[in-house]
Amino acid sequence: MQWSRIAVFASGQGSNFAALAEAERAGQLGGGRIELLVSDRPEAPVAKRAEEAGIPALLLRPKDFASRELYEAEIVAELQRRDIGLIVLAGYMRLITPVLLTPYAGRIVNIHPSLLPAFAGKDAIGQALDYGVKLTGVTVHFVDGGMDTGPVIAQRCVAVEPGDTVELLAERIHKVEYGLYPEVVRALAEGKVELDGRKTVIRE
Ligand code: GAR
Repeated sequence: MQWSRIAVFASGQGSNFAALAEAERAGQLGGGRIELLVSDRPEAPVAKRAEEAGIPALLLRPKDFASRELYEAEIVAELQRRDIGLIVLAGYMRLITPVLLTPYAGRIVNIHPSLLPAFAGKDAIGQALDYGVKLTGVTVHFVDGGMDTGPVIAQRCVAVEPGDTVELLAERIHKVEYGLYPEVVRALAEGKVELDGRKTVIRE
């Protein structure tokens, strides 16, 4: 499995997918190549973005399968067929089962719009606003069996401003995501991220 052969998983708008595809086009993913988009929502805007970027897409509806495991087994078969070595979750709104986690242990990463472990799960930006924190941000982490619980690879802060709404704060958080995720994916694709228990180091 080569770290440089990447599949991006996304369920919605796909603005992070687009930022990653643009980074690859601009030579900012190092040797990293986005070989495949996987989406659980064939009608989602991200599918259109993949088409426009000329990236192959595997679009499957989980409800067309008898179980979550069978849905994921179909994905794993395609990933293996394409020799994918790194899975990048970018707004993929499903929990992953051992069918995918086991063959790709330590090779799946996610981006989350908060400073984990604060505000895991859904609506992280709304949760941060409701709590009244002054600083929130973005986390890129390895994926384990839990909900946003895997080892942290990188984090960046975003200040909450007086009068912020979910929309305003989300806009600033997204901008930070579009810068951070390609940087981390590049380091991963080049085999520069070391994992030791819960600790990670990005080698220069
Ligand atoms: C991103 O903000 C990402 O951090 C978040 O979904 C958004 C997807 O936007 N992910 C999670 O909340 C994961 N728990 P996009 O589809 O425009 O890239």
